[in-house]
Amino acid sequence: MVEAITFHDAQSTFVTLGEIHAAAQRTLDSSVWDFLEGGAGAEWTLAANRAAVDAWAFRPRVLRGTAPPDLSTTLLGVELAMPVLVAPFGADRLFHPEGHRAVTAAVQEAGIASIVPEAGSFSLETLAKEAPGAARFFQLHALGSDEMFLGLAGRARDAGYAALCVTVDSPVDGWRERNKTNRFGLDTSAMEGNHDSAEELFGPMLRNDEPVWTWARLAALARRAGMPFLAKGVLVGEDAHEAVEAGACAVYVSNHGGRQLDGAPATLTQLPEIVRAVEGRVPVIIDGGFRRGTDILKALALGADAVTLGRPIAYGLAAGGREGVAAVLDLLRREMRATMTLLGRATVADLGPTAVQKAER
Ligand SMILES: Cc1cc2nc3c(=O)[nH]c(=O)nc-3n(C[C@H](O)[C@H](O)[C@H](O)COP(=O)(O)O)c2cc1C
Repeated sequence: MVEAITFHDAQSTFVTLGEIHAAAQRTLDSSVWDFLEGGAGAEWTLAANRAAVDAWAFRPRVLRGTAPPDLSTTLLGVELAMPVLVAPFGADRLFHPEGHRAVTAAVQEAGIASIVPEAGSFSLETLAKEAPGAARFFQLHALGSDEMFLGLAGRARDAGYAALCVTVDSPVDGWRERNKTNRFGLDTSAMEGNHDSAEELFGPMLRNDEPVWTWARLAALARRAGMPFLAKGVLVGEDAHEAVEAGACAVYVSNHGGRQLDGAPATLTQLPEIVRAVEGRVPVIIDGGFRRGTDILKALALGADAVTLGRPIAYGLAAGGREGVAAVLDLLRREMRATMTLLGRATVADLGPTAVQKAER
């Protein structure tokens, strides 16, 4: 006999992302919190990412005898238990001493993959050794010398990463006003997992004297490195086209979580334009403001092959290390499964443009 129906998992400390968000904020020093939570300029783009998700509603189907949901998918040869990846975020030790060591352990347990950041606290080799199933993509910036790029790419290849994820939206640092107001001094040692000094990586970005990077230069370097690459930070169809022509194995729609160009459009708004430009030649992934299972399913319906998450993972990390990240991923997985059933869709491939419509408010 059922004696009581509970609405939460009684084993878990956290039962909503809202609780994890609040716990992270309680844990972190307020200027570190602002560094994590904030965006560039007036934070218009940061807010636009969320508004764009809320601009879509679902078109559920009922009584179709739909089988229990299966969230699994394959991206660039990597099997994922759900179409979710961890976005690369640097300075991870500021949020928890174990940083990406805790993240990749939780990610491996969840059967998905991480995009390990160049500017992280731990080396790409350490993470590949500790969580070989999770550390599958290595992010580096289109910045600095050819030798630096090739050195990192070669290390990622030797450590068994499936592909590079090249950030193309950060030739200079975004205009982050919360950090300025707080007189925030970022501890660069938290970003030196892959570099001898943060100057090596961030010097050109902060001085704004970077020699010009182009799609042709990136294509030539990736070829020399013998590594496939995803292009992270694409926001318009013309660049999606350029990325594919340059040999990108995937287009990653991102405005850096609103942290770079304020006034850049919301990622979900741009997704249909980019899906059209790519014409199915390579997978499309997206990030920016996705906080719920329902948000992720909207992006899949609009043509994304996977969704990456930045801040939600960092909230989990700050709130509870490995267990905090595991809680975030478990909540998303369970919410997505329930939503798939409510939508009358059994597999990720069943989610197409007919699963959503523009919301009327
Ligand atoms: C604290 C922090 C550090 C980040 N560091 C990097 C980085 O070093 N390189 C990069 O390409 N993106 C970086 N990002 C951007 C993320 O990869 C991702 O694009 C963004 O967080 C997605 O938006 P969301 O936080 O709303 O999920 C960072 C984001 C955060 C929050």
